[in-house]
Amino acid sequence: MMTSNEIRIKFLEFFKAHGHTIVPSSSLIPDDPSVLLTTAGMQQFKPYYAELDPTTTVHPSIGQPIGRSAASVQKCFRTSDIDEVGDATHLTMFEMLGNFSFGGYFKKEAISYAHEFITKVVGLPISYVTIFKGSDVVPKDLESKAIWNSLGVNDVREEGMEDVFWGPTGSKGPCGPTTEIYCKTSEGKDVEVWNIVFNEFLCSSSREDLLAGKAQLDRLPSPGVDTGMGFERLVTIVQKTASIYDTDAFQTVFGDILKNDNKKSARIVADHLRSTVFLLADGVTPSNKDRGYILRRIMRRLVVHSQKLGLSKTDLLNRTETVIANYGGAYPEIVKNLSVVKDELQKEYDKFANTLKDGLNKFNKLFANAKNDPATFVDAMAKNAFDLYQSSGLPFDATFDLLDESGFAYDRAALQNRATGLMKEHQEISKAGSAGKFGGHGLILTGEVKASNEEEVKKVTRMHTATHLLHKALRQVLGEEVHQQGSDITPERLRFDFTYPQKMTAEQIAAVEKIVNDEVAKDDAVTMAEMSFKQAVAEGALAFFKNKYPETVKVYRVGDFSKEVCGGPHVTHTLEVGTVKIVKEEAVSAGVRRIRAIVEP
Ligand code: SER
Repeated sequence: MMTSNEIRIKFLEFFKAHGHTIVPSSSLIPDDPSVLLTTAGMQQFKPYYAELDPTTTVHPSIGQPIGRSAASVQKCFRTSDIDEVGDATHLTMFEMLGNFSFGGYFKKEAISYAHEFITKVVGLPISYVTIFKGSDVVPKDLESKAIWNSLGVNDVREEGMEDVFWGPTGSKGPCGPTTEIYCKTSEGKDVEVWNIVFNEFLCSSSREDLLAGKAQLDRLPSPGVDTGMGFERLVTIVQKTASIYDTDAFQTVFGDILKNDNKKSARIVADHLRSTVFLLADGVTPSNKDRGYILRRIMRRLVVHSQKLGLSKTDLLNRTETVIANYGGAYPEIVKNLSVVKDELQKEYDKFANTLKDGLNKFNKLFANAKNDPATFVDAMAKNAFDLYQSSGLPFDATFDLLDESGFAYDRAALQNRATGLMKEHQEISKAGSAGKFGGHGLILTGEVKASNEEEVKKVTRMHTATHLLHKALRQVLGEEVHQQGSDITPERLRFDFTYPQKMTAEQIAAVEKIVNDEVAKDDAVTMAEMSFKQAVAEGALAFFKNKYPETVKVYRVGDFSKEVCGGPHVTHTLEVGTVKIVKEEAVSAGVRRIRAIVEP
């Protein structure tokens, strides 16, 4: 039997032999700001299809350009299947095998490679394949059909936009028609194993808009290939097991747990613990928002189900070591972060365990009430689920699992939607609430500045750009040892604190003002780009290091003059700033100076 480790290696060796550069998996925290977690192998390569030249851009993890063909085994995480975890085939975290071409080979090679790998390297018969049947804007993929036929695959089925047109991920990006390979499971069911995407288009908007006919498709100058093969699913078929959990890797790490009669809980524990290890190792920490919230949900659901199986906190902590021992060869980063993983798991466990019992008691009461009236059940239970999360930290998924176990019939998807809606409303309200805590009535919080009406927004926006200009000019006049220590902007004035050992002279102040106002007069364009914090620093963008930056940051550039990591907002051209005057210079503390400035008119 081919082991999962062997299949991974064979995949990479096969594509290496066909001229592909092997690129390590990127982090589960993507560089792409439009998605919370890495959901596909192509994520780290997205810019190579449209913006970056793969033959000259140095790829950060291999230290050289990757060229036009690459292959990887990528860790991915998707919440879309979270409700299905527990059945034979669904996971939250999974590995994706992929080969990619950026303006290099296209349909003929991509299909031939896939055919050879499936039928020769892992020796599976292909049941059938699919191709794109065409739409109003994209023609039927007759070329792929002909290639399959030439390889002796004659069962070629035609499907539409929903199934065989991939992407884009996030709010825009590459996309195109796909061809998929189907193979039989040990139970004789045909499942999709490989999705081969021909990235021919750049979509102006999200996939949702695309399906609704509201997005624009432009041809990519050099079309590419993006393939994705779910690793665990492939292993299931190669090893002819009845489920993903019966494959060698899951059996090695979780075999004893998976023997439990409560199959669903056992599988949830296996899946969620594995995901927890990988997410924590990549630096995600449990919290109440964004990816931190995704992690908190799966960690807490893990706790609920592990207790059902009689597993203790120590059992879970010890098991993280087994996960790491088994996957560390393919993913060295998890080995390095063992102690982070254990610490964070322990912390979250303790935090949640305190309120869990209380939550379960409350659940029983709330459920008993809600089920009396089937007509209002979804609404009432959505509210209950939300209250249970707020008061006892019980994640929605765990609440819904409890409902499932009760045997009560209800619409889980509707409930999920309704409860998530309540959570979103709540997050909006608390965002507005935290804006209010800065003082002021009807406060408008736009990016980093605050104001109470549109006119004030304009004024503080001008001063915000003036602050960037001053920061840079101070460094030019006083030296690079000037570092921002703080900044505060009101509609009346800006205040800027920075490191410098002595009082500024009148000449220095005049010199700074001159540099700033000269820059204003040039009417520089102010532009913004989003990038990883690492890249921003590498490009020399100034950053105020007292802040804790997210992985992806905005970098505002004023002409060629200044570049800063910043939340905005800014004017679009420097003439809008007006004349900048420094009105006061004073000491704040030893080694820290403060200037106040105004913009006129
Ligand atoms: N991007 C495609 C997918 O995720 C193929 O890699 O299925």
